[in-house]
Amino acid sequence: MSVPVMTVPGEPPAPLSTAAVRATGLRKTYGSGETAVHALAGVDVAFAAGEFTAIMGPSGSGKSTLMHCLAGLDTATAGEVWLGGTDLTRLRDDELTKLRRQRIGFVFQSFNLLPVLDARDNIVLPMQLAGLRPDTAWMDSVVARLGLRERLGHRPHELSGGQQQRVAIARALLPRPDVVFADEPTGNLDSRSGAEVLGLLRSSVKETGQTVVMVTHDPVAAAYADRVVLLADGLLAGELSDPTAESVLDALRGLGA
Ligand SMILES: Nc1ncnc2c1ncn2[C@@H]1O[C@H](COP(=O)(O)OP(=O)(O)OP(=O)(O)O)[C@@H](O)[C@H]1O
Ligand SMILES: [Mg+2]
Repeated sequence: MSVPVMTVPGEPPAPLSTAAVRATGLRKTYGSGETAVHALAGVDVAFAAGEFTAIMGPSGSGKSTLMHCLAGLDTATAGEVWLGGTDLTRLRDDELTKLRRQRIGFVFQSFNLLPVLDARDNIVLPMQLAGLRPDTAWMDSVVARLGLRERLGHRPHELSGGQQQRVAIARALLPRPDVVFADEPTGNLDSRSGAEVLGLLRSSVKETGQTVVMVTHDPVAAAYADRVVLLADGLLAGELSDPTAESVLDALRGLGA
């Protein structure tokens, strides 16, 4: 069963302007005919500005596909994706690339840093490519918050996994994007570095009002979020507010995950 998101029983839906990003009727089909895979089978979902949301669900339920479509990294088969007042599905490729660099941050499980660039150059690269100059005071504050001041001259191979992921988060936060998407950002980290990364995402929401949407398999990671959205078989399968590791685990068991 799909549950309408941002709706409290008996109350009208929250105004759309409070959604940093939302999708309506989102479908993604791979292949065709009998072998077609409906990775997203008609998803309506909204993510409020200034909130930290975790997306969870069984392997293959469409979490990465949803996130890639929301972030403009992949194109949907049908439906709309709105980033504030912009429908991403109607943009030309060059417009989408520009929007992604300025208004969307993405954090990957495998960090995706350029090995030949040091941490500082990795952090500023997307803004440079967009022809934008990072605000020095903001850059200093992001770097300080992420504990990277002493590491800016290091290349990725000279950094630990946790440090590399912190560089990737700094890169995502630097343009002050409308949304930061993170697909299993702690998947390649030990539990201590993972907790550090989750704490940093949490504090960027609390302290600077950053909107964060994160895919995770880990109920403990999901408990850092304000809300958990559940996917199953390419459809919304429910949601939880103020999740705890226990309530998330119960909800996942309910999905047969
Ligand atoms: N490029 C592709 N071609 C064909 N099928 C694909 C492709 N990408 C994803 N799929 C299929 O779409 C479905 C959803 O995949 P997706 O990667 O979104 O799942 P997920 O929830 O992120 O899973 P996981 O937890 O394992 O990362 C799966 O059945 C997958 O096999
Ligand atoms: Mg995935």
